Amino acid sequence: MLSSSKEIPEWLALEECRRSFSQRTLSGLMKAEPGREQRWSFSAASIRADLSRNWIDESTLAALLALARARNLEQTRSALFSGEAVNATEHRAAWHTALRAGADDPNIDPSLARTLKEEQTRFLGFAEALRAGRILGSTGAVIDTVVCIGIGGSDLGPRLVVDALGPPSGPLRVRFVSNIDPVELDAALDGARPETTLVAAISKSFTTLETLENLHVARDWLKYGPGGAAEPATEGRPRLDPAHHLMAITSQPERAAAAGIHPKRIFSFHDWVGGRYSLWSSCGLPIALSHGHLRFLELCAGAAEMDAHFVSAPLETNLPVLLGLLGLWYVNFWGVKDRAVFPYAQRLRHLPPYLQQLEMESLGKRVDIDGRALDIDTAPVVWGEVGTTAQHSVFQYLHQGTHWSPADFLVVDEFERSGERRKRLLYAAAMAQVDALAAGDSVLGAQRSTATYAMAPGGRPTTVIHLPRLDAHTVGALLALYEHRTFVQGVVWNINTFDQWGVEVGKKLLQQRLDERPF
Ligand code: F6P
Repeated sequence: MLSSSKEIPEWLALEECRRSFSQRTLSGLMKAEPGREQRWSFSAASIRADLSRNWIDESTLAALLALARARNLEQTRSALFSGEAVNATEHRAAWHTALRAGADDPNIDPSLARTLKEEQTRFLGFAEALRAGRILGSTGAVIDTVVCIGIGGSDLGPRLVVDALGPPSGPLRVRFVSNIDPVELDAALDGARPETTLVAAISKSFTTLETLENLHVARDWLKYGPGGAAEPATEGRPRLDPAHHLMAITSQPERAAAAGIHPKRIFSFHDWVGGRYSLWSSCGLPIALSHGHLRFLELCAGAAEMDAHFVSAPLETNLPVLLGLLGLWYVNFWGVKDRAVFPYAQRLRHLPPYLQQLEMESLGKRVDIDGRALDIDTAPVVWGEVGTTAQHSVFQYLHQGTHWSPADFLVVDEFERSGERRKRLLYAAAMAQVDALAAGDSVLGAQRSTATYAMAPGGRPTTVIHLPRLDAHTVGALLALYEHRTFVQGVVWNINTFDQWGVEVGKKLLQQRLDERPF
């Protein structure tokens, strides 16, 4: 049983590090170390993170790494990758890395590797058959629209990646619905025709109220058309057989079958795949539907490359480790309660909400893995918006607010040299902002205003994450980077990163309300 974090010497050493910064400025720190950017830049799987604009120095890094080792990070990382039951309260593994591992991965039993490959080949084959028009609706029409109904991890990851990879590469329009508010499903069905539409219910449990309610309405829409049951069947509009237009992705195939989904249209995955870690499983089918199976495989290859870095790189240059430790440095030793993420690429607009679930559902815990109340803070609030849009809504707070939020700025390096002026401006804007946040208006020198209302103090740390381009491999590596960053923090905080009992309360209260007052 690990002792409480605050009692261990490595924790106390970091409190001393924090005190050492009280008389220093971030711009002073940066000026005092020529070549700081190079020293504090780290690369993995084609991604480079520049940590130089953070409150960090050699002794702080050493103390953070000592804390990670004191919390058995390396041992727990091995347990994660070998499929041990690291999710103790649900008595199962959190083996999303197995979904993107090679067939020869020593951590994975060959028979399991074969099963996983068969599952992947089946859903990717289905995607390509649909894209090729070899799977038809019940009237013989070619399917041109897939409406994916899911929520949380059954929506956010696929939605993010489908957007991040740009316009669809084939004939299928993939639309996403998560909310129970009728507006979202109505919008997704708007302009679609039942005879050319496939509805995919994505739900690990296949019990989520929002998904099942939306599925019920979508099934009626398929059967009766936009007008619903009142609309008479006509020669031009025969009653569809919904079975041809429904599919399910779930870890509970028997529940999907009981809901009337044909077994041939049910794509399952193992229950040791966590919802917010599930886009690498058949939950990633929407990605293959929109962009083809090769892009999905490239996505997994990028994640696998980041996995290989995470398990093999020394902690001192291990990107997920460094980002995870830096994040908890601000939470536990600077009293920071939030963190921001600004992707300077419109195609990454769904990254902040994806990270909100990944980090806040994984790390928003108040007891440790032994059930003891924690005496330290854990998950910060994650928020963010695409740049440059965010500059015109929240950057006033970032530059002149009474407190600061550490921020990740994600930039796409090929934009810097783009033939498109606006992409070059997007990149330049991000770089100007991170320098301004670090140095404040002192960076303006003589041009700076001395009026207090105009002054920006600086000292506001940022991490610049350089993506070489926005392709499947890079997106896969990025998402794996954030998954492992989250894992590192969970280990140091000694919490269960992979359960989510907190959401059960609301679900049970709603069911109790429905039982008491059915409607
Ligand atoms: O938010 C609670 C939660 O269980 C998430 O962990 C999960 O991703 C989401 O609801 C949807 O669950 P399911 O995939 O089982 O429908």
